[in-house]
Amino acid sequence: MSSGLKKRETFSSGIAVFFATLGSAVGLGNIWKFPYLTGVFGGGAFLLVYVLCVIFVGIPVMLAEFFIGRNTRSNVIGAFKKLAPGTMWKHVGTMGVGAAYLIMFFYSCVAGWVYYYLFKSLRGDFVGITTESAKTQFAQTVIGPLTPIIWQIIVMVVVGAILIMGVQKGIERVTKTLMPVLFLLIVICDIRALTLPNAFEGVRFLFNVDFSKLSAVAILTALGLAFFKLSLGMGTMVTYGSYFTKGNNLFRTAASVAFSDTLVSVLAGLAIFPAVFAFGMKPGAGPGLLFMTIPLVFSKMPFGNQLLVAFFFLSSIAATTAMLSLVEVLVAYHTEEFNISRRTASIVNSLIIVVIGSTAALSVDPSSLLGSIKFMGKGFFDWYDYISSNILLPVGGFFIAIFVGYIMKQKAVLDELSNSSPKLAVATKIYLFILKTITPVLLIIIFLNSIGVINFK
Ligand code: PFF
Repeated sequence: MSSGLKKRETFSSGIAVFFATLGSAVGLGNIWKFPYLTGVFGGGAFLLVYVLCVIFVGIPVMLAEFFIGRNTRSNVIGAFKKLAPGTMWKHVGTMGVGAAYLIMFFYSCVAGWVYYYLFKSLRGDFVGITTESAKTQFAQTVIGPLTPIIWQIIVMVVVGAILIMGVQKGIERVTKTLMPVLFLLIVICDIRALTLPNAFEGVRFLFNVDFSKLSAVAILTALGLAFFKLSLGMGTMVTYGSYFTKGNNLFRTAASVAFSDTLVSVLAGLAIFPAVFAFGMKPGAGPGLLFMTIPLVFSKMPFGNQLLVAFFFLSSIAATTAMLSLVEVLVAYHTEEFNISRRTASIVNSLIIVVIGSTAALSVDPSSLLGSIKFMGKGFFDWYDYISSNILLPVGGFFIAIFVGYIMKQKAVLDELSNSSPKLAVATKIYLFILKTITPVLLIIIFLNSIGVINFK
């Protein structure tokens, strides 16, 4: 029985809604995915396509999730049960819960490395490192076997503890305090990186407009990235939307979150690439960039160690606030559908994530037992990532768009999104048109491409 009768918490203000939602969007994706992909796929041209994807796919799905959440004031499965009782639609919510677990299994592992790197930079481990010692330090971090697990546990203790405190006292307070700190730290890193000699090369890598690199693959990459970046397709925004206040202007929230998240990604790129190029290094993506290249180049500049502390602190904030939203999907579901306390739900879910997530952490070392287990060439870590990002998110997003565009009574959507104000009615109508046409078609194309049914070159 869902506990709809219990008084449900909400965020306390529009600013709280903004920072919590932005906290979900801003994550490791801004630091290790976005800047690199932008550089490789044509700089400014890719950025332009990314912005179009945000407008035609990202914002429409985000609004659809806000609608489902705020209208029902329920967790992701409960929301579909309320809007379409007795139907299969609740399984869109089930997929969301599954995706939240899978993303957490590998995300908490990478977050553990980030926390450990913050600790190491505070201890001064990176002072005077060489290319070789950067590699060794990374290998020691990920291979463990104890180190990565211990830090993954620390990460989940932090996330669990914040969630136990509740929506207002936990999520709201932490995101409202830490998101401005993150912004400040990133600007400090930008100033340092952009004043290095040869910084311009890095700026050129990021912004140089090259339409010849805009292949179909680049466009699909931009679409998938927009989806992961904005935490869409799995009910995060349904869950957070269920805590929004009635008067909140959902259009403004969606647009300002999408804009600020993109700004943080660009600022991250401006902190990373000028430094990388200034020291004659080649940019890469993922773990190599974050855990080897960055310590190496930052350690070579004046105030490098302080800057590394700032950089890994801001990355820890980004990872933590994104995880709050992922685990909140699970906590809201368990507290409401099974009537257990928030405390128990937070602890049990953190435990599940540590236990199963450790298989992701331990699979990174190819010489270990778990590292040697592969299905179709992928280990645990890669499978969790692949199934969630490439399958569950686009499929979930597609069904959410269809549900709000075609299954829901359009008057209900219109009233909720426009807050029953005629001023927003036109915007809502344009929005519904995009949600019904462009958004699902693009989502199906990303999905078919990512599972290899269509193959763009
Ligand atoms: N938006 C986060 C990032 O860019 O790192 C990742 C993420 C968080 C994806 C929450 C999905 C989600 F529900």
